[in-house]
Amino acid sequence: MMQDKAGIVTGGASGMGEAVVERLLREGASVVAMDRDGAGLAALSARIGCDRLVTVEGDVSSEALGDTLIEKCAASFGNVRYLVNCAGITSPFTAFGDVTLKDFDVVNSVNLRGTFLTMRAAINHMRDHGGGSIVNISSTAGIRPMLQVIPYTASKWGVVGITLAAALENASAGIRVNVVCPGIVDTPMYRRVAMEYGAGVIDLTPMKRIGTSAEIANAVSWLVSDEASFVTGLVMPVDGGLALT
Ligand SMILES: NC(=O)c1ccc[n+]([C@@H]2O[C@H](COP(=O)([O-])OP(=O)(O)OC[C@H]3O[C@@H](n4cnc5c(N)ncnc54)[C@H](O)[C@@H]3O)[C@@H](O)[C@H]2O)c1
Repeated sequence: MMQDKAGIVTGGASGMGEAVVERLLREGASVVAMDRDGAGLAALSARIGCDRLVTVEGDVSSEALGDTLIEKCAASFGNVRYLVNCAGITSPFTAFGDVTLKDFDVVNSVNLRGTFLTMRAAINHMRDHGGGSIVNISSTAGIRPMLQVIPYTASKWGVVGITLAAALENASAGIRVNVVCPGIVDTPMYRRVAMEYGAGVIDLTPMKRIGTSAEIANAVSWLVSDEASFVTGLVMPVDGGLALT
């Protein structure tokens, strides 16, 4: 379905990003996987061993990176038809009054500023090259309040906001922009903070289990593809019902 389509996946070395890279390669797409974890990217390349995968080590919060990714994708594969923004970090569990400005700025610089910068570069390119599909990863924390993760919550509501604004502005240019809001998903990020969620974490989700990266990749792959050709501005929970609680 994705043959002859190339694009960029940020956060591609781990968790959901890695699952999206694998899924899109299976669909026939070409992928530029970007991450700040160079060793993780090297391991991904070694494991997959596919000439439709190239990797770029970098920090999504750097302004120059967006254009670098577009140039790398166009030079390697001849087109840039999609962008998937998976790179992200969490904030420490902290009461509102104790949130430090440093934590607020660091989390927003990766999750919101980083998403904005890659989107801006992709939109500028796609407007001149026949359109494309952008999928951002927000969170349940981007559509309902979550306790004690204020910087993360701000960044993820911001991602939903810029997704919808970009979808409206660019629909007539053939650029679709959608956002997936995962619930609790078994990834290295989840495993790092699982202890802070506590033993009752499974019970938080109405389906009484946590999700898998592959389940997120299923939704992303559909939104990227032409199967979703009339879908833009969708805020899509993939969360076992968590956003309903
Ligand atoms: N795991 C969950 O339960 C969950 C739930 C909702 C939303 N999310 C979101 O899903 C996305 C993917 O998270 P995950 O669970 O797969 O986490 P993960 O930690 O397994 O993967 C995130 C990747 O992003 C990369 N990254 C972090 N900062 C970066 C930067 N500045 N520049 C480039 N790369 C950077 C990391 O190196 C890592 O490879 C994130 O945006 C996260 O906020 C996760």
